[in-house]
Amino acid sequence: MDLRERCPVLHFADLGDERGKLVVIEGGEAIPFEIKRVFYIYESDATVVRGQHANRESEFVLINVAGKSKVRITDGTDEVVIELDRPMMGVYIPRMLWKDMYDFSPDSVLLVLASTHYDGSEYIRNYEEYLKEIGK
Ligand code: TYD
Repeated sequence: MDLRERCPVLHFADLGDERGKLVVIEGGEAIPFEIKRVFYIYESDATVVRGQHANRESEFVLINVAGKSKVRITDGTDEVVIELDRPMMGVYIPRMLWKDMYDFSPDSVLLVLASTHYDGSEYIRNYEEYLKEIGK
């Protein structure tokens, strides 16, 4: 399947009104997994590249709730770059894709929803090893 189809950009419902914006994300509904972990990355800047790993088990949704950043996703052959620049949009990243997050604006707060509790052993942090595991 095409990488853009595997990593859909998600648009979340805006329940805002005259009092301000409200975005709701329900696990298993707006995103294709139940949420077990939430973390967020901020005070990274335009010189930093984060991520640089693939996950054997975890699925993620990335959302810039403030500011912007980019995520580059590859399956070892094709590559997509998605700019995250709105609190109402996210990108779904399934298992076993390599990802880099970069170009963080100074006000970037990158929220990550994950399908698993943290387990460092399910991370592949070496690109050659990643290619080997996916048979490329
Ligand atoms: P890292 O995976 O390098 O961050 P990112 O992929 O977002 O750039 O994580 C940095 C450190 O934090 C590393 O020592 C692992 C630890 N960590 C946890 O303990 N729990 C977590 O859920 C995450 C994402 C990281």
